[in-house]
Amino acid sequence: MSSFPNGFLWGGAVAANQCEGGYLEGNKGLATIDVVPIGKDRFPVMLGKMKMFECDNEHYYPSHEAIDFYYNYKEDIALLAEMGFKTFRLSIAWTRIFPNGDDASPNEEGLKFYDNVFDECKRYGIEPLVTIAHFDVPMNLVKTIGGWKNRKMVDYYIKYCKVIFNRYREKVRYWLTFNEINMLIHLPFVGAGLVFEEGEDEQAIKYQAAHHQLVASAKATKIAHEINPDFKIGCMLAAGNTYANTCAPQDVWKSMEKDRENYLFIDVQSRGEYPNYAKKMFERMNIEIRVEYGDEEILKENTVDFISFSYYSSRLTSADPEINAETAGNVFATLKNPYLNASEWGWQIDPLGLRITLNSLYDRYQKPLFIVENGLGAVDSADENGNIADDYRIEYLRDHIKAMKDAVNEDGVELIGYTTWGCIDLVAASTGQMKKRYGFIYVDKDDDGNGTLERRRKKSFYWYKEVISSNGEKL
Ligand code: BG6
Repeated sequence: MSSFPNGFLWGGAVAANQCEGGYLEGNKGLATIDVVPIGKDRFPVMLGKMKMFECDNEHYYPSHEAIDFYYNYKEDIALLAEMGFKTFRLSIAWTRIFPNGDDASPNEEGLKFYDNVFDECKRYGIEPLVTIAHFDVPMNLVKTIGGWKNRKMVDYYIKYCKVIFNRYREKVRYWLTFNEINMLIHLPFVGAGLVFEEGEDEQAIKYQAAHHQLVASAKATKIAHEINPDFKIGCMLAAGNTYANTCAPQDVWKSMEKDRENYLFIDVQSRGEYPNYAKKMFERMNIEIRVEYGDEEILKENTVDFISFSYYSSRLTSADPEINAETAGNVFATLKNPYLNASEWGWQIDPLGLRITLNSLYDRYQKPLFIVENGLGAVDSADENGNIADDYRIEYLRDHIKAMKDAVNEDGVELIGYTTWGCIDLVAASTGQMKKRYGFIYVDKDDDGNGTLERRRKKSFYWYKEVISSNGEKL
């Protein structure tokens, strides 16, 4: 008997801005990510510290062509089908549907593009899992109303949701309202189109923007269920439990606080209200969230159907400010854990941490879980015959799938699917690099934009195919 339930959704994930390219094709409008360059200015822009509202000739913007999925989707989906994908997570680029965000009517060419993509998935029996907003905000709305700091964003987002829910009513069942909603706190321009002026209370602006997204997410959930009661709506957390650096109670307390910074979002989306610890935290920070009449009811009555999350690594924290040997990790500050190895980008590898995270989330929410991102960003190189033997990636994924299996078999966690991140190589969100590769499929392109864009199967391609066909038994 297989460890994973029948119908378990094996697959992979991408995001429009990291794979599509064609950034102005088919009447698409400019999105936040299209003005985020590679290089030294990338982080200041992503943090909302440096204003870059237009593209210039001095910078290179990786999203503009990305891996050209816009023109290659048929070939790419055929390759995913060859691996036996049951599901494919992708996002809709908001600015393909509403190029300026506030347009009177949607852009038919954009809608048609996703019709074609979903039809292609259907041809192979692949269930689409669609992220409605994956790190993109229409630039026009950033310029004119300041992005998600403005309440009007809720209406624009809902208008967009209504259009895509109706249009793809029969083609898509699984939806995620916001990718890694907690990322807004760490990369505010990326998560919410926020840019700060000197002297502004950044925390207050971020949490107000978060409130707008939480209300938008709940309203979208309500409308989705009205449009099609079979729709399954999920939230999405950048997850990974925070460990305490020592067993000193102060460290344990600190790790709990760190986890709550992230849980806060899912607590609202899954339980329907701000937890008391969040209200107290806002008090301490002197933040007064402007809550409109009816918000509390909306949040309470429209909680999500399932909890999805990304997992790359666990985190480590200390109460002692002197201890600051930080390493990288999905934009979250974390200490170096001496018990773990790390990827070439310093992200610490912790498969048991995935089992711990699955259990924590299931204990807390008691709703089905969906791992919608997991994987190893690594440099791949081909041998003289052009073969890419990415055994390190296979090992990473194998260990994480084993941990997942333990969570399901030994702990009784309800898990509905697993989509590895960047199933086809794409642009890295944090660094903008191509050489940080996650895929089973290699794409010939480098960090400067050179390459033929040719697709090539890696060793992991054949391995994952077996994993799927054996429902996770052959690892
Ligand atoms: C998640 C994002 O934060 O991590 C993805 O949802 C991103 O968009 C992924 O690509 C991996 O991060 P990176 O920076 O290695 O691409």
